[in-house]
Amino acid sequence: GPVALWGGRFAGGPAPELARLSKSTDFDWALAQYDIRGSRAHAEVLHAARLLSDDELTAMHEALDRLSADVASGAFAAAPHDEDVHTALERGLIERAGEELGGKLRAGRSRNDQIATQVRMYLRDHARVVAQQLVTVVDELITQAEAAGEAVMPGRTHLQHAQPVLLAHHLLAHVWPLLRDVDRLIDWDVRAARSPYGSGALAGSSLGLDPAAVAAGLGFDGPVENSIDGTASRDVVAEFAFVAAMIGIDLSRISEEIILWNTKEFGFVRLDDAWSTGSSIMPQKKNPDIAELARGKSGRLVGDLTGLLTTLKGLPLAYNRDLQEDKEPVFDQVGTLTVLLPAFAGMVRTLTFDTARMAELAPQGFSLATDVAEWLVRQGVPFRVAHEVAGACVRVCEERDVELWDLTDADLADISEHLTRDVREVLSVAGSVASRDAVGGTAPVRVAEQLEAAKERATEF
Ligand code: ARG
Repeated sequence: GPVALWGGRFAGGPAPELARLSKSTDFDWALAQYDIRGSRAHAEVLHAARLLSDDELTAMHEALDRLSADVASGAFAAAPHDEDVHTALERGLIERAGEELGGKLRAGRSRNDQIATQVRMYLRDHARVVAQQLVTVVDELITQAEAAGEAVMPGRTHLQHAQPVLLAHHLLAHVWPLLRDVDRLIDWDVRAARSPYGSGALAGSSLGLDPAAVAAGLGFDGPVENSIDGTASRDVVAEFAFVAAMIGIDLSRISEEIILWNTKEFGFVRLDDAWSTGSSIMPQKKNPDIAELARGKSGRLVGDLTGLLTTLKGLPLAYNRDLQEDKEPVFDQVGTLTVLLPAFAGMVRTLTFDTARMAELAPQGFSLATDVAEWLVRQGVPFRVAHEVAGACVRVCEERDVELWDLTDADLADISEHLTRDVREVLSVAGSVASRDAVGGTAPVRVAEQLEAAKERATEF
């Protein structure tokens, strides 16, 4: 029947329905090697506290090494009756070290401090993987921005033509949020780098075991300051979940643009065959599935965060079994992102932009009207008037279905005494973008600086 770690005061094993509900090995087995590393560090502090002899420590390490190898090879796995990864691994240890020695390791620790520590170990390792994969996406975007040179495109607000911008400027506008996501992961690690091990069930350990030694042994900066907090809080897990969700959101915004840009109507970008899919019925189709899956999976990443926060809401101190629900959301996020990010990077790397089409569309939709207004301001016209005059130009053009540069000298004079033929100097995309030369602006000289700054930032990681 079921073997639990808490048999002493119970008349029999749990009801099968409870065992089925309670069991977590389907997902917490992902923590098995972290649990074993925790056990090695724990054996060391038991030894330092003279609760294990030199020989016992050696035998313990030897048994844990064998257990670790057997977990890695699959020779040892959770049994149906094991409640969780900790229960299963204690069984595995006892099978290898014997009842007497194997039964000593549990002294001074609880599954509550074990699990809180192991989730952090898992997330710290995987945050590094996610950050690295994200930097690869950033590198691909930067490479595309660099290749775009001074190519222009229609910049949009409200999805309407607004002002021309450099394609590189637009691509870099997606780079900075992703760089901040990498920053967030790094900054998150400062808070994740405290070890709950030694908190025991909630009140701390009484056997003279040193939490700082365990923390150091497991690569943490130090132990948690409060054993109740250490076992009961999951804000660090939730913060990771937020960053993962934010990454999903940032990717979904890039994705939406790629999906739009890849339509016949936009025609801004072509996807590489290897990074797009076909249709089982329509022979002509080439679909942007990576972008669509990224956009779709952002919903799932947000759902994971929402589920976790909802689990945590209103939980009293200290440990509650509800906290077992913290793992699947973040494991799902890690699994989702580590599969998504390499595909996303490949898609970005192999995009081909139709810069001729973008350049053709850049000045359309009266996107140079602001330049007319600003030209007037430079002639001493108050902006309020300048805005009116430029607006009047647009109205006339719309009536005649022509563009701003089609207005004749007579048209200009009719619209306003302030307008002369010289205004045509600014009615070019190149002139427009070059004039936005303050820091952060779309002028080629500024975008070139920005590109260097982004590159430098990306190589810091
Ligand atoms: N499996 C539990 C979790 O994931 C840890 C075990 C704590 N169980 C308990 N009854 N105190 O949080």
